[in-house]
This record gives sequence, C-alpha cells and structure tokens, in this order.
Amino acid sequence: MITVAGSCAAVLLLASCADEPADLPYGTVQQMMANEVQPTADIYWGAVGSSSELIDGKPVNRDWQPETDAEWQAVAASAVKLRELANTLGSPAYAEVRAEGWTDFTEGLAQAATRAEEAAKSKNPDAVFEAGGTLYSVCSACHQAFPPEAPAAGAEPVDMTPNR
Ligand code: HEC
Repeated sequence: MITVAGSCAAVLLLASCADEPADLPYGTVQQMMANEVQPTADIYWGAVGSSSELIDGKPVNRDWQPETDAEWQAVAASAVKLRELANTLGSPAYAEVRAEGWTDFTEGLAQAATRAEEAAKSKNPDAVFEAGGTLYSVCSACHQAFPPEAPAAGAEPVDMTPNR
C-alpha cells in the first residue's frame, strides 16, 4: 500500500514537505481526509443505493446492492478500514494538537464504523443504508466542530455528498 507518509518521505528528499511532522502516518488531517477517509467512505456509501432518471420521458428506477459474498466483504472491509482510520485520527499524533472534544468525534466515527461493519456482515441493504447515514452525520458533526483552519484562497468547496 502506498501511504501518504511514504510519498511525504519521497518529497522530503526534495526538501519540501517542510512543516509536516514525520510521525503522522497519513500526512496532515487534510491529506488523510482527502486520500484515505473520503475514498474509503465512498466505497461504503456507494454500496447500496437507488436512482431515478428520465429516459425518453419515462422515469427509470434503479436499485443496487452488493450481490456476491466478495462484494459484501469489500463493503465490510471499507467499514473496518474506516474504524482503523478513526483510531489513527484519535491517536496522540493527530489528537494532541487538537482542542478538547476531538477524540469524542474520532470515537464516534469508530463506533459508527463498527455498526457499519455489522450491517455489511448481516448483508442487509437497508441496514447498510442506515449505517451509512449515521457515518455521514459523524463526519458532518466533526467538520462543524473543527472547520478547516485556513481554506486555500480560491479553493473549491469540497463535495462530500454520499454517492447514492
Ligand atoms: C475527528 C474529526 C473528523 C471526522 C470524524 C471526520 N473528519 Fe473530515 N475533516 C476533519 C478536519 C479537521 C478537516 C479539515 C482539514 C484541513 O483542511 O485542515 C476535514 C476535512 C475533510 C475533507 C476535505 C479534505 C480536503 O481535501 O480539503 C474531506 C473530503 C473529509 N474531511 C471527509 C470526511 C469524511 C467522509 C468523514 C467521515 C467518514 C470525515 N471526514 C470525518 C475532521 C474530521
């Protein structure tokens, strides 16, 4: 697996990557969110869903959910990975520099991820949908409590709408 820390080490050789402590396994929180947390959550959120679109003026509804054991396992694995990421976010390297309350949210994410894993193991699409909603509310709650410190000038707002 290529970790952000690994690529940071590579960048260090070029003498940039300046103010990033080396003991952050996934780089800054911003990098970890963009490179690990969001893509992993997207796997979970994308697993079960429904859509409706007009084709030749007629509504066409589509539902999807994992079909094979391997597909269900991949969904459960994404929840396990989210829990690991949550625990890393709650570790001293990431938590120490944050205000009080940070670990409440990382623990909340770990718990939501555990419920999400159980839902995937039960192979119940409704439970996965529900657990995905709970996950999303934990993401949002932390983002409200800990907004980005200094948004880059002209940065696009980040779209974290669940992919369903
Ligand atoms: C413990 C708090 C916390 C939790 C829980 C959390 N985030 Fe974040 N997230 C942050 C912080 C802090 C930032 C802002 C980082 C910065 O820009 O300095 C952020 C930023 C982001 C970004 C923007 C990254 C960028 O490119 O600027 C995305 C996307 C994101 N989070 C996704 C998620 C998702 C998806 C979840 C839930 C599965 C989640 N986050 C849960 C704290 C959290």
